[in-house]
Amino acid sequence: MRRFCSVLLCIALVFGMAGCRKTQDPEPTNSKKFVIGFSQVGSESDWRIANTKSMTETFSYDPDYEFIMENARQKQENQFASVRRFILDGVDMIIIAPTIEEGWQTVLQEVHDAGIPVIIMDRSVAVWDDNLFLTNIGSNFLGQGQKAAAWLAEQTEGEDQVNILHLQGTRGATAQIMRTKALDDAVAEHSNWIAAEPLYGDFTEAKAYEVVTEYLKENRDIDVLYSENDNMTFGAMHAFDEAGITYGKGGQVKIITFDATKEALQYCMDGKIDLCVECNPLFGPQVKELIEKYRNGGQIPKQVSVEEKIFTSKDLDQAFIDAREY
Ligand code: AHR
Repeated sequence: MRRFCSVLLCIALVFGMAGCRKTQDPEPTNSKKFVIGFSQVGSESDWRIANTKSMTETFSYDPDYEFIMENARQKQENQFASVRRFILDGVDMIIIAPTIEEGWQTVLQEVHDAGIPVIIMDRSVAVWDDNLFLTNIGSNFLGQGQKAAAWLAEQTEGEDQVNILHLQGTRGATAQIMRTKALDDAVAEHSNWIAAEPLYGDFTEAKAYEVVTEYLKENRDIDVLYSENDNMTFGAMHAFDEAGITYGKGGQVKIITFDATKEALQYCMDGKIDLCVECNPLFGPQVKELIEKYRNGGQIPKQVSVEEKIFTSKDLDQAFIDAREY
């Protein structure tokens, strides 16, 4: 029996040592890339395409990073599936541009339990435990809406009645919630502002064209279009053109649009759009800076905003528009 035990002990030692040797092998330095899994909302707008380009160009050409992007096609359940795949793949970090705010608690808890840091980008998530993500980098959507409302208040001062057509983006997305809140708050403060029931454009040109075309069959008394992104604005402009409704400088409808893409700025300079509220999508480099800081053990702020302006035609010239990156 003693002899049998010592044989077992020897076998255990041999395998044990072999195991030890394996884990003590030095990791080859500089060969391991930092792997990022990125769940992007979709490709619903020019803004989104510029945002994807900024992220891809920032990380894909850097040899220190491996960047895996999955397009959720504007469906939150697709995002959940991507995030769970990233956990199984054992990525080093997950970046999420959330479609809508609600519903993230469970999946973010799973990422947290797997020990993977998360950055929330562009929009926000509504979770009760904000330790579930490192930081939230994006726009001040409420501030954007408030700038638009302040501009409109100036433009319509003294008018008896201002009829506002409101085109809403994806319901439940921070960009929609906050831009809508800014308008609702301003309507409550201005007794002469009358806002019709919002039309749902889902941040896309095609949907906006469809709903505005339908709306114009019964209602033509519109003084202002408050459109929560440029692509919906383009759809609405198309519908106005077909219905013979004029807009922009000297036209019936004043147009307020969000994003300030190159195309919208061109329309603004040409007098077709009255106000462009900027929403900057180019934050790939800023996200990278945050990641590098985090990897070097630095403290990163919980909320990071990007700089944004508003534009009317007098703020624009062709050289500025031509140089615009998105
Ligand atoms: O979350 C940012 C918003 O989403 C942009 O305004 C819009 O164009 C995009 O689709």
